[in-house]
Amino acid sequence: MNAIQTDEITLKVENFQLANVSLTIPNGKITSIVGPNGSGKSTLLKIISRLITTNNGSVYVHNKNSKLYKTKEFAQIISMLPQSKDTLPNLTIKELISFGRSPYKPFFNNRLTKEDELIIEEAMEMTNTQKHKDRLFFSLSGGEQQKARIAMALAQKTNILLLDEPTTYLDIAHQLEVMDLLTYINERYNLTIIMVLHDLQQAAYYSDYMIAVKQGKIIDKGSPKKLLTTRFLREVYEINAKILFEDGYPLIIPKTRRK
Ligand SMILES: Nc1ncnc2c1ncn2[C@@H]1O[C@H](COP(=O)(O)OP(=O)(O)OP(=O)(O)O)[C@@H](O)[C@H]1O
Ligand SMILES: [Mg+2]
Repeated sequence: MNAIQTDEITLKVENFQLANVSLTIPNGKITSIVGPNGSGKSTLLKIISRLITTNNGSVYVHNKNSKLYKTKEFAQIISMLPQSKDTLPNLTIKELISFGRSPYKPFFNNRLTKEDELIIEEAMEMTNTQKHKDRLFFSLSGGEQQKARIAMALAQKTNILLLDEPTTYLDIAHQLEVMDLLTYINERYNLTIIMVLHDLQQAAYYSDYMIAVKQGKIIDKGSPKKLLTTRFLREVYEINAKILFEDGYPLIIPKTRRK
């Protein structure tokens, strides 16, 4: 079973077009979507998570047309961490994470059950956000906020987690912490993780599968080893660079003007 399959999806907005995108994203694996700024990566995630609809084509989630899912049912399968940090109302970290439970609540009752409390507790433990639970979201640092947002997505207990640039704003240590956390939940809970990343080295190291987007088209896909080549960097990013592997970690050495 595939986690996601898109069949010839097309979306036109003003000067941008996502054209005839057909791809499959494996179940239970870590997939990253890479490509230049403005190439359509966030648009693709938004289509998969039903935040925007396409002009043409279909998206299948767990082999079922995504249009056929009811809203709450869909939110129990896919959670999405958007790219921009929208201004959130004055919420404590625990209140924010509790929002992850809303797909499981009846419309008129958002009281947390014992099970909800346990799941929220577990999400805070995994992301190390317990210590901030009574603080207001805006008072946390960028890195702490990012972990709280991930905790909210985890509390949603979905099978598929979409993350748009989860490591932006984080220093290298916190980037690695987030990537290791995602690897852990992928292995421990067999969660399908699909994320947009700009750091190609990290994307290649942490992913099982990669998809490259340029100007609204999928221009390459496959295992990181297959994808990450000198030719790929020239085609997708128009840069000259060589790639070395050190203990399985890819190192991109660009040719620049600076000697
Ligand atoms: N609602 C919209 N109206 C007009 N143009 C849009 C709209 N949404 C997206 N675009 C344009 O579509 C293109 C793709 O946007 P998208 O956000 O998917 O890029 P991206 O690959 O995620 O880029 P980045 O790496 O900078 O986040 C951009 O040029 C963007 O300006
Ligand atoms: Mg984006």
